[in-house]
Amino acid sequence: MSLTVKPLHPIFAAEILGADLTQPPTPELVRTVEDAMAQYAVAVVRDANVSDEDHIRFSRAFGPLELPPSFGRPANVKRRMRPEMFDASNLDENGEIIPYQSERRKLAKGAERFHTDSSFHTLPTKWSLLRGCIVPPVGGDTHFIDARAVYDALPQATKDKIETLVGVHDFWRGRERAGLTGVTDAQRATMPPVSHPLVRTLPYGRKTLYIGGHCTGVVGWPDDEGMALVEELYAFATQGKFIYVHKWKQGDIVIWDNRCTLHRATPLETDEFKRDVRRTTINEYGPETSADAARAA
Ligand code: SIN
Repeated sequence: MSLTVKPLHPIFAAEILGADLTQPPTPELVRTVEDAMAQYAVAVVRDANVSDEDHIRFSRAFGPLELPPSFGRPANVKRRMRPEMFDASNLDENGEIIPYQSERRKLAKGAERFHTDSSFHTLPTKWSLLRGCIVPPVGGDTHFIDARAVYDALPQATKDKIETLVGVHDFWRGRERAGLTGVTDAQRATMPPVSHPLVRTLPYGRKTLYIGGHCTGVVGWPDDEGMALVEELYAFATQGKFIYVHKWKQGDIVIWDNRCTLHRATPLETDEFKRDVRRTTINEYGPETSADAARAA
């Protein structure tokens, strides 16, 4: 079956039809996906009803995996999926629904603010690939923003102001902004803040705004002023015209470029439906390691 790429939104995002991920990815598939990602920044591979192994093999065709952080979890804890995968589901290790209001879901609520995955990582994150294994009949959509289009639309005065500024990306502070309380010093020590320019140039030459839920300040600026600037940019970026709403179909693998998109999970506030979504994240280069292990090395 031949590969087809079809736009899904006036600004960005496309779907790729006809890919067979049960086989090792062909050079044609790799080229089609790379080209679609450079143009659309979000690409939905349809009908990828594949195993974790297929999903991981496909991801590795585009870069080394970022492994999930341990955050002090014992290594022998039971998992429903391969250890290379991030679990974005509402399910526990036995496949039962974790109630939305429970303590256990609190950390995940940070994903309900627009963010870019692993911007708190010292290694440069490239893409995330999220697979819908069980999708609810309603709710649980994922929202995406094209941060290249956001950058293009900024007033020139703002572009000039932020051109050389560097953002602070602080995982735990970002989670606190999303409502998490009781973060301990030991947790903070696992993920100290890192910094990245607010304006990045992509390998294919376009400029993009690099902010999101983990970005909590500006290097060298007083805390409140830095926070105020990144919140002002966040408010500009999250206007409806920049947003693509992905309504999941079972078997979708949604790929997004973390360097130039923001995304957020919408809460599945009911405990009625299972949502099993599994993510790989890849870096531009470097060893396959987790964000916390990379810092400790
Ligand atoms: C994520 O933020 O990585 C997951 C998004 C989602 O669950 O919709």
